[in-house]
Amino acid sequence: MDKLVIEGGVPLNGEVQISGAKNCALPLMAATLIANGTHSFGNVPHLRDIRTMQHLLAHMGASSGHHHVLQIDTSDVHTLEAPYDLVRTMRASVLVLGPLLARYRRARVSLPGGCAIGARPINLHLKALAQMGVDIDLEHGYVVGHARKLRGASITFDQVTVTGTENIMMAACLADGVTVLKNSAREPEVVALADYLNRMGARIEGAGTDEITVTGVCELTPSSCDVIPDRIEAGTYLVAAGITGGALKLKGCRPDHLQAVMQKLRDAGLSIESNGDLIEVCRRGRIRSVNMETYPFPGFPTDMQAQFMALMALGNGTSIIKERIFENRFMHVLELERMGADVNLDGRTAVVRGVKKLSGAPVMATDLRASASLVLGALAADGISEIARIYHLDRGYEAIEKKLSAVGARIERVKQ
Ligand code: EPZ
Repeated sequence: MDKLVIEGGVPLNGEVQISGAKNCALPLMAATLIANGTHSFGNVPHLRDIRTMQHLLAHMGASSGHHHVLQIDTSDVHTLEAPYDLVRTMRASVLVLGPLLARYRRARVSLPGGCAIGARPINLHLKALAQMGVDIDLEHGYVVGHARKLRGASITFDQVTVTGTENIMMAACLADGVTVLKNSAREPEVVALADYLNRMGARIEGAGTDEITVTGVCELTPSSCDVIPDRIEAGTYLVAAGITGGALKLKGCRPDHLQAVMQKLRDAGLSIESNGDLIEVCRRGRIRSVNMETYPFPGFPTDMQAQFMALMALGNGTSIIKERIFENRFMHVLELERMGADVNLDGRTAVVRGVKKLSGAPVMATDLRASASLVLGALAADGISEIARIYHLDRGYEAIEKKLSAVGARIERVKQ
């Protein structure tokens, strides 16, 4: 198991190329199961989760190769199952449920089980599929679904769910009739998936709004597209510039996907300019403490909450952070406190009193975004930090130590 060793206190300066988004690539890869043949995706990041999805597809009979582009051939799919051993390492595996039911009208997918950041049930996915005529059984930890034919339905999600919206949108592509998804997720990754499904011949309207309409068609045909830039990776580097008092130019971004993040960081004293796919960020004055609440897109993303807290740990006052999406997404707090942060937790609310400085310490990553906040804290801290269990980080950040050392960070990956 690797760890990162970081000597903090260096203002970062230079350019960072933003990678493709994990949370866009994974649903695109699952969508390949709806149309037999070869699909081609550009700008796919080299990440552990991408390899896990490749393994899952290979288990079903779909071959893939990932060089400059990721090619997936679903001509010989023979196994309609997502096994526990793969699903437990990556919850997004549940995204194969909709495509398998759409294309083969049956599927056996392991329930994802609990997660560090919350219970994260998939009841809303299953409820919607049942409304579309799928018989759903839970057997031995697996969702077993089958249907003679999926039919269109009017579905209202009790709560906004990103992968729930994506799963049902994919299931509805080949259903009989029209499916309307109300209170649907508006994330850019949902829009990118709808664009690809339409490119394959689907009829989807309204993606990006809270009401999506899918008119079923007979079949889809493989196609190709590029994965959108990773707005969460970009947000993380914006904070890296702010927390170290440096100046970065981020390349290959979609600033329109980062409005809430950029606005909140400007409120916190960062200077941020965007132009085309470039974002320039720096900080001159003291970090300002501001309050923040997480919301579904276009609100402030929960996947940036931990990183934002690391910045607020060095704020000039008190910041109140409310986590509205997940019930247990403050695992990074105790580790940031080991670096000297002053945070009081009360349920889903964190009260962060800014301190003058953080100090390097040995800390442990607990989930993907928590590990990113520890890297940010360590970059700003006096002295040396050692971050263990960075396999969490490798799930969602491509070549992070290379990108950071290229802009001046003293960071090293050490085999333990
Ligand atoms: C997606 O997860 C992302 N993952 C998450 O990113 C992200 O944090 C989350 O959306 C919210 O933005 C991928 O896209 C692969 P949800 P998802 O369903 O779809 C509750 C990262 O760091 N809920 O939108 O699983 C749920 O418990 C990851 O990259 C139900 O109760 O999240 C949560 O409280 C972490 N029943 C809320 O809804 C359901 O059936 C939102 O979850 C579904 C969800």
